[in-house]
Amino acid sequence: MLSVNIARMSSAIRWAFNWKEWNPSEQEFEYATSCVQSEEKERLKRFVFRKDVRASLVGKLLMRKFVNEYAGLPYDKITFVRDEHNRPVLKDNCTVSFNVSHQGSYTVFAGEIENVKLGVDVMTLEYNENKNISDFFRLMNKHFSTAEWDEIRSGKSEVEQMSMFYRHWALKESYVKALGVGVFVDLRSIDFRTSSKLSEHSITTDTILCINGIKQDWLFEESLLDSRHCVAVALEKNDTSMRLRHTPFEMMNYDKLIAHAVPLFPIDSEYTAQYFAKYEQP
Ligand SMILES: CC(C)(COP(=O)(O)OP(=O)(O)OC[C@H]1O[C@@H](n2cnc3c(N)ncnc32)[C@H](O)[C@@H]1OP(=O)(O)O)[C@@H](O)C(=O)NCCC(=O)NCCS
Repeated sequence: MLSVNIARMSSAIRWAFNWKEWNPSEQEFEYATSCVQSEEKERLKRFVFRKDVRASLVGKLLMRKFVNEYAGLPYDKITFVRDEHNRPVLKDNCTVSFNVSHQGSYTVFAGEIENVKLGVDVMTLEYNENKNISDFFRLMNKHFSTAEWDEIRSGKSEVEQMSMFYRHWALKESYVKALGVGVFVDLRSIDFRTSSKLSEHSITTDTILCINGIKQDWLFEESLLDSRHCVAVALEKNDTSMRLRHTPFEMMNYDKLIAHAVPLFPIDSEYTAQYFAKYEQP
């Protein structure tokens, strides 16, 4: 079914799906995988663990839901292609922008009903007291500028330092993903300065980005999905993104995810059996 929300839409869509808590029945999995393109189904097959299949599958379903509901394309007429850096984009259509990220327990989706540079990244605020934090930071040295390392290391405890590390990581990834250039950038030249703490109940937008010391015209929307996951959305500033209309992430469930989905292929029982034969995680 085609369902267009053009009349009531805000220009920003933010969705989060906790796939760790989603244990699909065979029927649900079969239905969900019949609603994504065949090339994407093939990609999903390559994942070794079930958790990664679900994380990526949810991203593909969120993209289709968004394009169906907000770009007004019939579900079974939507075609995604990958650009030269492997980013999924809508074929022959640039009226909407979107990006997906999956990590920890969540797949997140950020979409805008306009053509704008946009990237999203979700990170788990992991802390393992058995991991030597100095060794870990040394390994990661080349990913951050000197000023960023000062900010990361200024945390009063190791937990705070790790949280700031992952916050910076999400910011940087969201920006790199918005540019869509993959790993072909010098990450130390991308220099973030944070001001406010992250919260589950509000969106922080006062983080600034400098490149070679020059402040960039970008907006970063940061928040916590829960106490263990931070998320950053990078948006190139324009008339719309500069408006104060920051949209919180809406939690999505299977029923909402699949509400307007239309199967593109017949049910594939063998594909489903292959999924259920995999281990959930290492
Ligand atoms: C793909 C890439 C851009 C992000 O990877 P990642 O953080 O592991 O993955 P995320 O979960 O955030 O995002 C994956 C999704 O982004 C999308 N994506 C893929 N390539 C992309 C690209 N070049 N640009 C934007 N989005 C991309 C896809 O939807 C993908 O989902 P899928 O794998 O299920 O199809 C990564 O390969 C990369 O190049 N990272 C940047 C360089 C780096 O080293 N950063 C360190 C930061 S400190």
